[in-house]
Amino acid sequence: MKIFVLTGAGVSAESGLGTFRDKSGTGLWARFDPMKLATPEAFARDPAAVHEFYNFRRRNLLSAAPNAAHSALARLQRELPGRGGAMTLVTQNIDDLHERGGADAVVHMHGELLKARCAACGAIHAQRDDLSTESVCPSCGREGTLRPHVVWFGETPLFMDEIFAALAEATHFVSIGTSGSVYPAAGFVSEARARGAHTCEINLEPSDNAAVFDEKRYGAASDVVPAWVDALLSG
Ligand code: OAD
Repeated sequence: MKIFVLTGAGVSAESGLGTFRDKSGTGLWARFDPMKLATPEAFARDPAAVHEFYNFRRRNLLSAAPNAAHSALARLQRELPGRGGAMTLVTQNIDDLHERGGADAVVHMHGELLKARCAACGAIHAQRDDLSTESVCPSCGREGTLRPHVVWFGETPLFMDEIFAALAEATHFVSIGTSGSVYPAAGFVSEARARGAHTCEINLEPSDNAAVFDEKRYGAASDVVPAWVDALLSG
């Protein structure tokens, strides 16, 4: 069994990080305009506002803790090899809650909030403090060149070759806590299905892609993911 797991904001919702889109209209993108805060053009126009947005999210992340869904996925990743299987964990989330829940080899296709990248020299560093237009790159010493190491709208997600290689080999594809509305991640299920993988959606409610999944499990990730992992490992 080779399982490809794709996670989204819903897996971290119960850790207090919030989602981008939800039916109650309280998601991050209902309160903040992504075109003013999450594009390269927005950063060029108003870097201080973009820094402030990510500083707020970074501080929020540093006070959050992983939930039962993160630890259940870490357990699955740890135990599958002993049973002749393997799991690839790809997340759209920029938080580090999978890692803090015990997972390793997490593929962060939209980057990582606790890292900064220098636009001048390309160096990537750990970043736990706030960033500003006066921040200095520890590698090249230039001022004002650091940006959050995250993928913005209009930029290409990271690790796409590695992701498509894992999708091609997957016997099972599981999508957890994602609305299925942002590509290319939203297209992974069809790719896996076309290559014969069994597909399963775990979400609070049917996603935009619900029709494409063979199996659906609805409810809060902290309940449904541990139950799904228990069933899989005891089967
Ligand atoms: P969304 O906010 O679009 O979707 C989150 C999904 O999680 C929704 O379908 C919710 O119903 C579900 N959900 C909420 N709480 C849940 C819970 N407790 N248990 C299970 N499911 C729950 O987030 P993503 O799909 O991750 O990209 O968004 C994809 C990308 O859009 C993000 O990576 C981000 C955003 O714009 C960039 O910033 C580039």
